[in-house]
Amino acid sequence: MIKSYNKLLEGNRKWATDQVANDPDFFKRMILVQKPDYLWIGCSDSRVPAESVTGATPGEIFVHRNIANLVVHTDLNLLSVLEFAVKVLKVRHIILCGHYGCGGVKSSLENISYGYVDNWLRNIKEIYVRHAEELDHITDLEAKVDRLVEINVIEQVKNLCKTKIVQKALDEKVLQVHGWVYNMQNGRIKDLNDIDDPLQDVHPIFKYERN
Ligand code: CO
Repeated sequence: MIKSYNKLLEGNRKWATDQVANDPDFFKRMILVQKPDYLWIGCSDSRVPAESVTGATPGEIFVHRNIANLVVHTDLNLLSVLEFAVKVLKVRHIILCGHYGCGGVKSSLENISYGYVDNWLRNIKEIYVRHAEELDHITDLEAKVDRLVEINVIEQVKNLCKTKIVQKALDEKVLQVHGWVYNMQNGRIKDLNDIDDPLQDVHPIFKYERN
């Protein structure tokens, strides 16, 4: 049996050799403390790797990925990553990046049960219902998925802004939050809402007192 994973180990050996050939100090720098400027929250989809699609190198982006790039307030994994990135690493930007044609978003429009992930995708169904007036009018399925992908990114940016961690950093003007969508058909990223004050779209009930 051909061990297909050997391709990855061979790729790793070649990559490590090439890095040193191009930049002899590359790994010496890597063992120093990491100081990334960006936290990337993206989809687990194998076609949207944060570093590759942005041309970034190791050490530049702190990454969290899950199915359909959701910010769920009971997700201890995401909350831990978020707090560590903002408070300890002191990232300057959080990039919430979705992608057109997202399988997770598409599945949320269906009535098929896939198992545990049903509970995860229910978060997107809730978003659909809140935006049903707009989405119900889109008859083409692909167009509907892509619009829901954009709305989902905006809603997840809002979810980030509902956390005390992000609100405090925004108040102190040490952090910016961005909503992006990656297009798999041409490799381009669209910046959805590069706004100075993403908190303005969050209902006041979510805003914590400053301290
Ligand atoms: Co996806």
